[in-house]
Amino acid sequence: MHHFRIENGQIFAENVDLSQLAETIGTPFYCYSSATLERHYKLLAEAFRELDMTICYSVKANSNLAVIATLARQGAGADIVSQGELHRALAAGVPAEKIVFSGVGKTDAEMRAALQAGIAQFNVESIAELEMLSQCAQDTGHTANVALRVNPDVDAGTHEKISTGKAENKFGIAWEDAPGAFDKARQLPNINACGIDIHIGSQITDLAPFDIAFKKVRELYETLCAAGHNITALDLGGGLGVPYEPDQSLPSPQDYAALVKTAFADLPCRLFLEPGRLIAANAGILVSSVIRTKKGQAKNFIIVDAAMTELMRPTLYDAHHEIAVVTPRAGEALQWDIVGPVCETGDFIGTNRHMPEPEAGDLLVVYTVGAYGASLGSSYNTRLAAPEILVQGDQYDIVRRRPDYDELLGLEAIPDHLKNTE
Ligand code: LLP
Repeated sequence: MHHFRIENGQIFAENVDLSQLAETIGTPFYCYSSATLERHYKLLAEAFRELDMTICYSVKANSNLAVIATLARQGAGADIVSQGELHRALAAGVPAEKIVFSGVGKTDAEMRAALQAGIAQFNVESIAELEMLSQCAQDTGHTANVALRVNPDVDAGTHEKISTGKAENKFGIAWEDAPGAFDKARQLPNINACGIDIHIGSQITDLAPFDIAFKKVRELYETLCAAGHNITALDLGGGLGVPYEPDQSLPSPQDYAALVKTAFADLPCRLFLEPGRLIAANAGILVSSVIRTKKGQAKNFIIVDAAMTELMRPTLYDAHHEIAVVTPRAGEALQWDIVGPVCETGDFIGTNRHMPEPEAGDLLVVYTVGAYGASLGSSYNTRLAAPEILVQGDQYDIVRRRPDYDELLGLEAIPDHLKNTE
């Protein structure tokens, strides 16, 4: 459920009229709804009420500071994968003791920064990474709480580019190597190997892969305890999917929580979850304007001012996003591809959509883009990143302004020898 609606030819986010806003700030822009973000977080937190569960919002899904701060105020922790995300999470008010650090490529500098900050847990993905972390912890006089990310070799049935828990994926420690890795971790100075971590993929629309993975984690937990390890934390990753199409029915947070409880409720462990999409996806829309239409030889195109640079998901994953015209025109519905101005054939927001021909300036809304929308953006074709708006009731704030060209080009320099000296 979300808080966006089209009413009498105008688009509203909660009580804010975005059609009017579009005239003042220009398009394209992202708009996020605080009420939706909060609702998603609360539903999840409520579903896990009886457990010792820390919900670490996966910052990569939508890393806008205001989005993180909205969730932090509800009690969320953060799942981070870089020093930049550590910086963001702390700046947005997430307490360090609710931050977990994931990712296969943590560097020495990143480990030191996270140790200094006092984060809850490092999710470590290899022995080499463990050794580096042990060294950093010794050098800085800290002890690192570690969960070893294991790869349960489960097919989550998701798009191949977002599957993470299969043997051929780069993530985690091979299942059969896991007990040996825990033995190794136990010998390393300044490492407290206290947790098991998994993350089997993203946009998972069926509970069965979670069920298989949780059972494997439970088995590993028993094996490790029998070998004398003191396992006090289980990080179950993120991955629960959201509906991208109307009428798509998915497991609810309650169904998911029931599965977690069956698997782990009796264990004396702190649990972590790392949801990203589930919290942010439906809480964001992209508002864009029609530049012009173009009837090609084989297809009709609506060219809009948002592009793959704002929303990469359609071209990267063949992802479907619902698109609505705010003020539909009269006339016969035609079939259109909705494309951006970027010079790539893959620059599309949606294909084979049906609607009467829109006019230049008409507003189009792209739904379910609060996760992996703005955060995957780029400035390809020297395009300026779309601003981001956060709505709360009848208030709105510009939580990321549109940069100007001087800011964009300001990071670059022309060496003296290339400057025209005449
Ligand atoms: N934890 C870890 C270690 C992850 O790698 C991810 C996502 C998450 C948590 C959050 O997963 P979620 O609950 O959002 O599914 N760009 C892709 C999704 C990539 C997901 C990467 N990892 C997309 O737009 O579909």
